[in-house]
Amino acid sequence: MSFSFLITGGAGFIGSNFIRYVQNKAPNLKIFNLDSLTYAGSFQNLQNLSNPKNHHFVKGDICNQDLVESILEEQEINTIVHFAAESHVDRSLQGPDAFIKTNILGTFSLLEAARKVWLGKKDFDRNEVRFHHISTDEVYGSLAPDEPAFKETTPYAPNSPYAATKASSDHLVRSYAHSFGLPITISNCSNNYGPYQFPEKLIPLMILNALTGNQLPIYGDGMQIRDWLYVDDHCDAIWTILNKGKVGESYNIGGGNQPPNIKIVKTICQILDKKDLPSGSAPHEQLITYVKDRPGHDRRYAMNISKIKNELGWEPKYDLESGLSTTVDWYLNNLDWLNAIIQEKDYENWVDLNYQQRGKA
Ligand code: NAD
Ligand code: TYD
Repeated sequence: MSFSFLITGGAGFIGSNFIRYVQNKAPNLKIFNLDSLTYAGSFQNLQNLSNPKNHHFVKGDICNQDLVESILEEQEINTIVHFAAESHVDRSLQGPDAFIKTNILGTFSLLEAARKVWLGKKDFDRNEVRFHHISTDEVYGSLAPDEPAFKETTPYAPNSPYAATKASSDHLVRSYAHSFGLPITISNCSNNYGPYQFPEKLIPLMILNALTGNQLPIYGDGMQIRDWLYVDDHCDAIWTILNKGKVGESYNIGGGNQPPNIKIVKTICQILDKKDLPSGSAPHEQLITYVKDRPGHDRRYAMNISKIKNELGWEPKYDLESGLSTTVDWYLNNLDWLNAIIQEKDYENWVDLNYQQRGKA
């Protein structure tokens, strides 16, 4: 019997990077990629796969349980890696509905499909299947400057609608392991950056705006802290958990790179200043503009990664300097991708809406 992966949200940022990663690690593995192609998902993210014949795209919604069940049954899926989500905090503040639907109800639909198809089999072998749920550090809430980094045992305290829906989905996944014996693992990861990230999140937005001579909007005082991780490192951590992780466990993943936002933005400006760009905006720091803060803005995230490091031997390979420099180079070498993405997906409307809320300086 041949086994296959179902990857949800594989046309998005991390999912598409993960598909590339898996195709390098296991070229013969069959991948089914279920994605509804929201504003954040695109075929542009799946160009030049190393083994396109083993990548099968299914356009569909994870909330469609019948569809998920038929994929699980017909394609002999033994592993689900669940990335699909609404993922942007600012959007969750403007309209939480889609977050509730996809992040909570969509995860519920996947869990139910797995319960019916996998656990319903007479010869079900819990060592042969895995439901891996991708989550975030934001479920733990916000840290004060002197508080220790989040551990897997830190109580959940989500602050934004995005974080609350991810926390809810984590609890559902955990409950399916406890109540029904579904073989699950969960990873909670810090902020990712790297190629193919939609330019609404901090790092790609700053690169795009700097390249186009637009303002670089810093929310509040710019002293908020995130724990930045290069996306390849995240993919590597997920692969490690799939291969060595203990069923039923959660693992924190983080990069250990924790400068304040303003420092990240200034570093991007300095990297761009050294490039020979036609935009003529150098020094790019002149584009930095402080804008109204995000409501309920979490001050600080930091991940304690001792568990995955000590138990599974994973640790990040990229430091922030090399990761940012690789990322800026990727965007500069893929301006066609950037142009296609912002034209494809109603991008201007989102930028205008976001600025209206914060007040364009
Ligand atoms: P993304 O927004 O770039 O991509 C999400 C993908 O899911 C898109 O391709 C979209 O089309 C698809 N999708 C959305 N709703 C769907 C639905 N109902 N049915 C099918 N497909 C649907 O997100 P990302 O940044 O790649 O994040 C992926 C996962 O990782 C999410 O679960 C997110 O919560 C988690 N995560 C992200 C980060 C980060 O920094 N980006 C950090 C930690 C965890
Ligand atoms: P973001 O990339 O949206 O990720 P998250 O909110 O999930 O951590 O934002 C990262 C940090 O950057 C966060 O503190 C908000 C801040 N930020 C800005 O200052 N300006 C911006 O234009 C954006 C998008 C984010």
